[in-house]
Amino acid sequence: CKGINGLDKVVLREPRGSTAEVYLYGAHVTSWTNDHGEELLFVSSKAMFKPPKAIRGGIPVCFPQFGSHGSLEQHGFARNRFWSIDTDPPPFPTNSKSFIDLILKPSEEDMQKWPHSYEFRLRVALGTGGDLMLTSRIRNTNADGKPFSFTFAYHTYFSVSDISEVRVEGLETLDYLDNLQNKERSTEQGDALTFESEVDKIYLGTPTKIAILDHEKKRTFVLRKDGLPDAVVWNPWDKKAKTMADFGDDEYKHMLCVEAAVVGKPITLKPGEEWKGRLELSAVPSSYCSGQ
Ligand code: BG6
Repeated sequence: CKGINGLDKVVLREPRGSTAEVYLYGAHVTSWTNDHGEELLFVSSKAMFKPPKAIRGGIPVCFPQFGSHGSLEQHGFARNRFWSIDTDPPPFPTNSKSFIDLILKPSEEDMQKWPHSYEFRLRVALGTGGDLMLTSRIRNTNADGKPFSFTFAYHTYFSVSDISEVRVEGLETLDYLDNLQNKERSTEQGDALTFESEVDKIYLGTPTKIAILDHEKKRTFVLRKDGLPDAVVWNPWDKKAKTMADFGDDEYKHMLCVEAAVVGKPITLKPGEEWKGRLELSAVPSSYCSGQ
């Protein structure tokens, strides 16, 4: 069906009531709700939904480059390309009845920027219980025998009640690259992460499970990831927020990006090879999580 500004979107519904919304522009998940109809992702009230600008919020897909880690535009181009519905995807097991398969292949213009042929398949699925699952399969289809390398992220914007009441567990004691300090490498000290100023860090070699605890909402987001060793944590805070035209001045209080990613060690694929990167998100009442 049609979304904002006439852009095509697909809405997934799970029998118990949770939903997800995916724009073909960017293969961008712009909404994920639980079975009480509560929105779990943050999308800016100033988001433009206007190509070629990427949508501010939800889950942009960063490919073939994360951030400024390379010579391409920031976060690569997959987030501002029109994807197609993949009507005949190669078999891929699922236990979900509610899913959509999307595909991106390079245009001639893309090949000039990044001279590689690939098929990028993204499956977005809602599990029973309302979990949101994203699986990317990227295949090198170069006919010239050449390998290619890329970095990647699911740039997930979580909706939180108040950033100063949020904790992230699973990243303590890890090494990170700090984007605010010229990508300098440091080690995270202490306990769970809490937030009181701008943060833009790439945690390297993280556990497969990361939790975001929203004390005020009594909600915990659990991220489970596979094939995605790193995790980026980003909040622009007040000063940076004011410099972003598609982000409200105070909206930083109500969002946190925790991005399952591959940044530290790029993926290299030879022709015919395929990489898989899977992210599973659940949102559970906090009390159910204690002691886990
Ligand atoms: C984060 C990066 O992933 O995305 C930040 O680590 C960047 O450095 C942020 O500012 C937003 O990027 P963009 O291109 O969507 O404004």
